[in-house]
Amino acid sequence: MPDKILLLPDNIANQIAAGEVIQRPASAVKELLENAVDARATEIKLIINDAGKSLVQVIDNGGGMSATDARMSFERHATSKITTIDDLFHIKTMGFRGEALASIAAVAQVELKTKRLEDEAGTYIEIENSVVKKQEPVAAPEGTSIAMKNLFFNVPARRNFLKSNNAEMRHIVDEFTRVALAFPQVFFSLTANNQEIFHLESGNLKQRILQLLGNNYNTKLVTVKEETDYMNIYGFVGKPDTAKKTRGDQFFFVNNRFIKSAYLNHAVMNAYQEMITRDSFPMYVLFIDLDPTQVDVNVHPTKQEIKFEDEKIIYAFVQAAVKHALAQFSVTPTLDFELDANIQQLSSIQQPFTEEKQSAAAATSIFKGFTEKHKAHFIEPTNRTELKHWREFYESREPVETRHALSVQSQESRVQSSESIHHSPFTFHDAGFTQLHHQYILSQTTNGFILINQQAAHERIIYERLQEAAKGKAVATQRSMFPVTIELAPADTVLLAELMDDLQQLGYMIEPFGKNTFVVQGTPADLTQGNVPKDSFGEKQVIDSLLEQFKHFSTEMKFSKREKLIRSLAWQQSIKPGRQLNEKEMQALVNDLFQCKQSNISPDGKPTYLEFKKEQLEKMFGG
Ligand SMILES: Nc1ncnc2c1ncn2[C@@H]1O[C@H](COP(=O)(O)OP(=O)(O)OP(=O)(O)O)[C@@H](O)[C@H]1O
Ligand SMILES: [Mg+2]
Repeated sequence: MPDKILLLPDNIANQIAAGEVIQRPASAVKELLENAVDARATEIKLIINDAGKSLVQVIDNGGGMSATDARMSFERHATSKITTIDDLFHIKTMGFRGEALASIAAVAQVELKTKRLEDEAGTYIEIENSVVKKQEPVAAPEGTSIAMKNLFFNVPARRNFLKSNNAEMRHIVDEFTRVALAFPQVFFSLTANNQEIFHLESGNLKQRILQLLGNNYNTKLVTVKEETDYMNIYGFVGKPDTAKKTRGDQFFFVNNRFIKSAYLNHAVMNAYQEMITRDSFPMYVLFIDLDPTQVDVNVHPTKQEIKFEDEKIIYAFVQAAVKHALAQFSVTPTLDFELDANIQQLSSIQQPFTEEKQSAAAATSIFKGFTEKHKAHFIEPTNRTELKHWREFYESREPVETRHALSVQSQESRVQSSESIHHSPFTFHDAGFTQLHHQYILSQTTNGFILINQQAAHERIIYERLQEAAKGKAVATQRSMFPVTIELAPADTVLLAELMDDLQQLGYMIEPFGKNTFVVQGTPADLTQGNVPKDSFGEKQVIDSLLEQFKHFSTEMKFSKREKLIRSLAWQQSIKPGRQLNEKEMQALVNDLFQCKQSNISPDGKPTYLEFKKEQLEKMFGG
């Protein structure tokens, strides 16, 4: 028998090795961002096309590479970051294996452009399948740009294993978030399919957290900071009421490296004991700094698992630090929403809380009044009832007959069932409705008066209608007599194509018609009831402004595509300030508002109406 063992050709060996490091587009994102950070860049731009399947590009303004280093960087085990095995235990950089670029070059087409400050010209290199295709001098700014194109073009089996664009994009955003959180002093941006999703100015950790995880956390972060000779911990944990039903915003960094550790997570959970329910997860962004000799980061190819020299000390330290922070915050005598036992009992607090409701509620003026220091005294004790589920409140207080007052008045208004009257928390006085400044609707109630923000109210109404439509029966479409052809910018074309199915369900009949061109066959039948009279507002503008609004919402990655679309449409179709309403229209609006599941706030959390009670007025007038 002849000998049978053969050495694998380099490119195959490289592809196999690459599998450990580059599993999906997001892995390349992580590696390239980390390289840029290691190069001491102060500005790092990430560009993604097709969820990274066709392009992942990172542009930095870091130190750059010489022509020789540029070529070397793609060799396996080529690194500038460690020289001896001892260095492995003093690592201060994110990279150290010298494998990332070699791996990327083995499974994609790569274009590198790099220049050091001291060099006249930069270097351009094209490499694919581990083979250099081109190397030449090039004019370039200081720094490095690496573009990874067509990931797994040479490993179709792997390419087929990639998930949907949405799923891959989510992984990318996760990796981006982790690196951007760890380096708040560095500017980061993320552009996907020509649309800028994140634009993160350099700032402090708190600002970075709010930029990435949402402004909802603004008044909800508790500082953690403990320093010892052995280790330091700093960062933020969320107040208990920010705990979510899904394990979302939880981040541990050790020496600025994001890590996954069930063990340390347990330490934090323990610190929250009894402050949150068992099945909820608190938010945290915690940084542990300790002597690099006390950690081994070389236990996993992605470096996200690490080994501590003494795990138990770290556990105890993390738990104590978080406990300490939470205790300090809870003894502070602020009139904090989540500390008031009475409020804690309210049904609106006890009931399952969706993310939408949570962010919406957090933005209401009432909520802010409770949470903003020195402001709490403005809140009348009776106003707390507003936090309660209104149905319960009013049904227990109002005699049933009075609730019918509204129906007499509103016989003419559309969609009026006696059932809907039960939904209104108010009984309106005969005085009817008055529009103020073409913006607000004033109405006397038995107990005082309410002031309705016409746009916020209308947005809420449309929002709930569209949500229903998205779940069930599609919105009726009114076919245009003369279908209109519209031409869009390429980026908008991509976006519209992505939204087409959902738009159809919501009443828009749009068909692709050649490159960057679409035909609008129909729009929602009841669009004219909103603020978008079809005659004065051409289809092109309707679509343009819709896409604009959608992009605006796109910075909120937390919402699903459909949620963003519905919010955009609700805003777009809503009655804007300046639109005069007649009595009948005001009546219909108010009726529709109080048929909503959550009538008191707009989709983005602003109050739809303010209530003024008679007693309050009397008091204000010195009564
Ligand atoms: N954006 C960049 N700017 C300057 N130099 C870079 C950049 N990216 C890579 N390099 C150089 O190329 C080398 C190889 O990069 P690569 O990511 O493959 O390995 P590494 O970062 O050293 O280790 P690891 O495999 O753990 O990431 C780096 O050590 C660095 O010297
Ligand atoms: Mg690297």
